[in-house]
Amino acid sequence: MMFDSVIKGGTVYTPDGVFVGDIGIAGEVISEIKEGGELEGQITIDATGKCVFPGFIDPHVHIHLPFMGTNAIDDHESATKAALVGGTTTIIEMICPGPSDEPAAAFAEWNELADSGACCDYTFHLAVVRFDDLAQEQLRALVATQGVQSFKIFLAYKGALDISDEDLLKLMKMCRELGVTLTAHCENAEAIDSMQKKLITEGKTGTEWHEPSRPRSVEAGGVQHLCEFAERAGATIYVVHTSCGEAVNSAMEARKRGVDVTVEAVAPHLILDKTYAERPDFEGAKFVMSPPLRDKVEHEALWDGLANGSISTIGTDHAPFNFHGQKDMGIDNFTLIPNGIPSIQERVDLVHTYGVCKGKIDFQTMVDVCSTNVAKQFNMYPQKGVLAIGSDADIVVYDPNFSGIFTHKDGLSRIDYSGYEGMPRRGRSDVVFLRGKIVAEQGKFVGETGAGSYIAR
Ligand code: URP
Ligand code: ZN
Ligand code: ZN
Repeated sequence: MMFDSVIKGGTVYTPDGVFVGDIGIAGEVISEIKEGGELEGQITIDATGKCVFPGFIDPHVHIHLPFMGTNAIDDHESATKAALVGGTTTIIEMICPGPSDEPAAAFAEWNELADSGACCDYTFHLAVVRFDDLAQEQLRALVATQGVQSFKIFLAYKGALDISDEDLLKLMKMCRELGVTLTAHCENAEAIDSMQKKLITEGKTGTEWHEPSRPRSVEAGGVQHLCEFAERAGATIYVVHTSCGEAVNSAMEARKRGVDVTVEAVAPHLILDKTYAERPDFEGAKFVMSPPLRDKVEHEALWDGLANGSISTIGTDHAPFNFHGQKDMGIDNFTLIPNGIPSIQERVDLVHTYGVCKGKIDFQTMVDVCSTNVAKQFNMYPQKGVLAIGSDADIVVYDPNFSGIFTHKDGLSRIDYSGYEGMPRRGRSDVVFLRGKIVAEQGKFVGETGAGSYIAR
């Protein structure tokens, strides 16, 4: 058989093993995988000396994000082009409506924006910030008719995105009933609010006070709180952007008691530490996110968690706010700095450079946590997240020997800085296929704008 495309002679990562072989693509799907090779195609990609991975999936992305008095700077076109050149072929974006917005209107708004601009495939976690009768009715309808399979709550951002305990328990019961996973930002809105007020009153207004205003204990307490409620409600929960060992331990204690809890890490917490946010001349603002960057020692806790399975996924929490004109809203008061560190393009290469190349995790774990586990957790498997016959031909031909630096100059996001500027980089997604079409080659987007599809789950 003559395939539309053949990826030849790469080291192929499949659930049945890792071997040198060929992949044959017909239309949008993988049609053949053959150890040893000899497949023929109209287009042939020589993958000799390269790794062949399933397209990577980012479980935690913000693109359209009205937040802290401004809007994140990317649109769906810029963010998803950045994702694709970095090897990410599917994203899960957080829909974050305001406290008075209706869930149905929010879903329609986000979906319309993504539909017109997204170049990679996408789906959504829907944040629940109101839970009155109308909202409940609409949430049920979105699950039933739109393929929504995960909600999001914030135990943070007092008065903007947080939710009461009463509503949290009711929501968890609904999640259990509907078979929906509840993803959660775990801190404590009240504790942070009072600590922030105290620090500002004491004149502690600089970026170096961001981390002390939301310490590890508050995050770990948030995880514990979420887990206790999940235990009562029998809900399936997913803790996003876990920054420290204490928070992971809270989740693992609950798992031992039978709570169905999964833990996510995000790239900034694995690579950067709190000294970045302490940089002088307001430079630290580039590194203000929540939960905050922690002490370097927490990197080890997170990598260990990934290696031993306590942590199941790595996302980005891509939330891009320009240094000039957005982050500087908080130049006199760190609590007003829009929170977020972008890394949608860099994620896979960061994990390779600082995880695989440093011996913290192996290639198989990189594939699992950056792709397969995400697809399984969020009901996209085996359409996504695996090299298997019949799966979408989302494929990354990865050059592990590429060597360079991370730099803003190479970025396709609209952000005006890189949090990883000048840091050494090993590896590059050389050729990226999205549903059978080549969409990125050696750091350049070569696909079609708006060709991404919504994944109803
Ligand atoms: O700092 C962060 N994480 N910004 C984005 C919003 C969120 O909390 O995920
Ligand atoms: Zn968050
Ligand atoms: Zn987030």
